[in-house]
Amino acid sequence: MSELSVNHLLGIKYITEGDIQLIFETADHFKEVINRPIKKVPSLRDITIANLFFENSTRTRLSFELAEKRLSADVINFSAASSSVKKGETLIDTVNNILSMKVDMVVMRHPNPGAGVFLAKHVNASIVNAGDGAHEHPTQALLDCYSIREKLGDVAGKKVVIVGDILHSRVALSNIFALQKLGAEVKVCGPKTLIPKYIESLVVPFEPNLKKALQWCDVANMLRVQNERMDISYFPTTREYTQQFGVHKNLLDSLQKEIVLMHPGPINRGVEITSDVADSKQAIILDQVQNGVAVRMAVLYLLASKIKHNED
Ligand code: CP
Repeated sequence: MSELSVNHLLGIKYITEGDIQLIFETADHFKEVINRPIKKVPSLRDITIANLFFENSTRTRLSFELAEKRLSADVINFSAASSSVKKGETLIDTVNNILSMKVDMVVMRHPNPGAGVFLAKHVNASIVNAGDGAHEHPTQALLDCYSIREKLGDVAGKKVVIVGDILHSRVALSNIFALQKLGAEVKVCGPKTLIPKYIESLVVPFEPNLKKALQWCDVANMLRVQNERMDISYFPTTREYTQQFGVHKNLLDSLQKEIVLMHPGPINRGVEITSDVADSKQAIILDQVQNGVAVRMAVLYLLASKIKHNED
């Protein structure tokens, strides 16, 4: 397989296992490139990319921008907080105005689930979903699975537990789709109030006991409690949450094996994971961030190849 089956990256739901493997193989190449003294390649020299962020971001925004610059694309950045969105301009009007400046690709983070799918139907550009509400965050799942592959040799056959606030998480859904497509076994763990009903339909078992979940898994992906998306209380106190669902060194030491710990960031240190664990050798949190640049370079490169192919 030499090209993606899709013209947009809207969610892991819409891509195949073959697409994911192609992205990983391409990312292997770009990882080698970004470790060279000269980290830049001319692959996207004639491509212009707009990064549209309607929601806050540190890692994803910087990682996409760096990936685009490493590929020699022209880049424009848009942040809703300082834009005419504040004056009531619609999403379609905003994007069409940006596209009229001859933009080829749009990387968008938006608080509404499905915003990327909506945009792809209405504008003439390749769309990359950089997180849409509590729906999907496909490049995060790709970099997470790529990091598991790097650390453990393969994703197939591995046991992965996703722990914490699954209900408000776009990382959880994209990870579940990606891990299942790659042949991993997935479970979720957390307070029952933070486990969405759709989990059953995805055939993902729920394990309410964190120690049992950690004893079962090869990898634990610890999610942040997303207080900003909560309009009611989902657990009695943060202290109780941490006691039941936080990972700390004594808990890890009590397991009969060494597991890999992941976190998409930003971390609530001392809530879902203690600082000593987050900064330990078992945690691959900064490897995930580093791999994000190579994986996003691969996604952009492969989508841009489709644009060029469609023009021919
Ligand atoms: N992991 C992640 O999406 O982080 P940001 O919100 O900082 O982009």
